[in-house]
Amino acid sequence: MGSLDGFAPEFEVGVSTASYQIEGAAADDGRGASIWDTFSHTPGRTLGGDTGDVACDHYHRWAGDLDLIRDLGVHAYRFSIAWPRVQPAGTGRPHSLGLAFYDRLVDGLLERGIAPVPTLFHWDLPQALEDQGGWLSRETSYRFAEYAGIVADKLGDRVRRWITLNEPIVHMAQGYAFGSHAPGRALGFEALPVAHHQLLGHGLAVAALRSRGAAQVMITNNCTPVWAASSAAADRTAAAIYDSFHNRLFNDPVLTGKYPDQLGALLEPVIQDGDLAVIGARLDALGINYYNPTRIGAPTQSELPFDMRPVEGYPTTEFGWPVVPDGLHELLTGLRATYGADLPPIYITENGCSAPDGTADRFRIDYLDSHLGAVRRAVADGVDVRGYYVWSLLDNFEWAEGYSQRFGLVRVDFETQERTPKDSYRWLAAALK
Ligand code: NOJ
Repeated sequence: MGSLDGFAPEFEVGVSTASYQIEGAAADDGRGASIWDTFSHTPGRTLGGDTGDVACDHYHRWAGDLDLIRDLGVHAYRFSIAWPRVQPAGTGRPHSLGLAFYDRLVDGLLERGIAPVPTLFHWDLPQALEDQGGWLSRETSYRFAEYAGIVADKLGDRVRRWITLNEPIVHMAQGYAFGSHAPGRALGFEALPVAHHQLLGHGLAVAALRSRGAAQVMITNNCTPVWAASSAAADRTAAAIYDSFHNRLFNDPVLTGKYPDQLGALLEPVIQDGDLAVIGARLDALGINYYNPTRIGAPTQSELPFDMRPVEGYPTTEFGWPVVPDGLHELLTGLRATYGADLPPIYITENGCSAPDGTADRFRIDYLDSHLGAVRRAVADGVDVRGYYVWSLLDNFEWAEGYSQRFGLVRVDFETQERTPKDSYRWLAAALK
């Protein structure tokens, strides 16, 4: 069976990228600094000191990159908008040159018959807002809604589907709890307000987008099936706690208007009257990024209420992440079992793998093929999945790992900026024919 056989004709296939990971042009056209500029320029923060200053130089090469998307034959392109291009200081009058870039991009996509699916926040917060507390501050939620409105005013006549936030769990955990991502704060549990303020920003942005006629609004959450290390009660309890932090902290409030009980209690000091009604605004769809399951045991030395254990017995990607396509089926059917009628249609907004450099990437073909199979089985089991987006179009800046992890369907030579479609690109193009 072909990889895309058995899906409804309207099932949407796309590719995903994010602004800081591909654009470069960090100082062009009045772009302000983001927390990723600051972080990546701080010695010791990224592998080899890599930064996104140039990245894939997509800011200048966007037209050729859109041709690659068109020739691939996908239906949609998920990209993100760099807030500091639109509002260099995160507030106030928009910068027309920055907005003009996304204007050209959207027109360029439509001219090529590709649906634009912008994400408003994929982690590149204006540094000026971080200086005022970043997502630890409730003010940032209001600033985010203001920015969402500005972008919708500019692009809303042509964009049908919007994504507010990308993976708020990862931004909170890596950025504010552990400090391995920008802004590099290691606050542990003190980072929790970042969850609430991102979610409040999401809810306020949903209202801002809808008031400007947005047809569809969604959020993208990173989700992982959580596997207990054993059937012992302590391991199962730890796994349930991890599930509530990683998955339910972000899915419950947007789908049901409530936090998981224990986390809701911890968040009490920052929740104000009416917040959960804003956050729980109806969504047209839920975006899910899936990479792998997580194994969790009872804490041993950890200060956390859980310990991460390796998921053994599977092949691994270049990153060392286990390849478990069944985990995606488990995740999707599990969401349906947990949320029932509260679950809107789902788009897999990211799935993919890093593989060794080169264009002969049989490994990636097998990865994508097996994960599409898992989606097909979930659909057959009654889960309403409407689309699947590969991460990523291009090899790009993989955050703290710099350019060492290559996720692209298209190889990028970071010296020359030459793009070379990989075998996986040709395979997907053939499947889409
Ligand atoms: C999820 C993130 O949204 C994306 O930015 C990242 O590159 C991929 N995962 C791979 O780690």
